[in-house]
Amino acid sequence: MNLKQITGIYFSPTGNTKTAVETITGQIPGGKEYLDLTDPGKRPDYHFMENEAVVVGVPVYGGRVPATAAERLRKLHGRKTAAVLVATYGNRAYEDALLELKLIMQKQGFCPVAAAAVPAEHNIVRSIATGRPDKADRKKMKQFGREVGKRFWELASNYRIGDLQVPGKRPFRKFHGVSLKIKVGSSCRNCGTCIRMCPVQAISRTDARVMDTERCITCMRCMKVCPTGARKINTMVLLAVGHKLKKVCPERKEPEFFI
Ligand SMILES: Cc1cc2nc3c(=O)[nH]c(=O)nc-3n(C[C@H](O)[C@H](O)[C@H](O)COP(=O)(O)O)c2cc1C
Repeated sequence: MNLKQITGIYFSPTGNTKTAVETITGQIPGGKEYLDLTDPGKRPDYHFMENEAVVVGVPVYGGRVPATAAERLRKLHGRKTAAVLVATYGNRAYEDALLELKLIMQKQGFCPVAAAAVPAEHNIVRSIATGRPDKADRKKMKQFGREVGKRFWELASNYRIGDLQVPGKRPFRKFHGVSLKIKVGSSCRNCGTCIRMCPVQAISRTDARVMDTERCITCMRCMKVCPTGARKINTMVLLAVGHKLKKVCPERKEPEFFI
């Protein structure tokens, strides 16, 4: 298949998924475009043709595709467009996320051809998998990207895509969000960075200290982008969560690829 264009698509509040999608997409021969589904606001529907491919990535929240990402993925429409699926997760587990992503993309008219589950720095407890994806992970992702590129060429002679098998089971795990509160300290200058960048517009347009906790998806983006470090989660609470997580997944997980 001579691909006209490869589009790297991601929902990535703190950047890990963006890195993974860009690393993999970069190795697939063909013209590249990127589509960021993280920012708030209205977006159009996007249409993709049979001679295109997408690499689509989401972070794992509670073993699932984040509901906000799922909603935005429904703006994508394929016409038997090949799709490479990517899920990044904070070294605990990705559970049903890849299967859910596969089913969403199939429903939207895409043909999932390959998938990757990539351990990445846990964006809530950053002492878990710190700095990942690291050099070794990037090397493996690049190798995977090259293999996917070859697979697209093979498909040219025999355009039959089998059913991609990924881990996960139905009914999917239930996830109702994490009960962590983000506090805003006195160093907040109300500069508006977090207001503009919150994926779900959960921060008041006029006062960054005021948050709609019902709307907040605890994606950690506001904490990451705050130029004065004014937004924080209580240290003791974070230590307790970190302790619990390290107990259930003490070992380094490696990227997994399905092709
Ligand atoms: C609300 C929430 C839930 C999460 N749930 C999981 C999980 O179930 N398993 C896991 O290993 N990591 C989990 N993580 C960690 C993220 O999946 C991980 O840090 C991811 O790479 C973040 O992607 P991003 O930088 O593209 O936003 C969770 C993070 C958040 C914010």
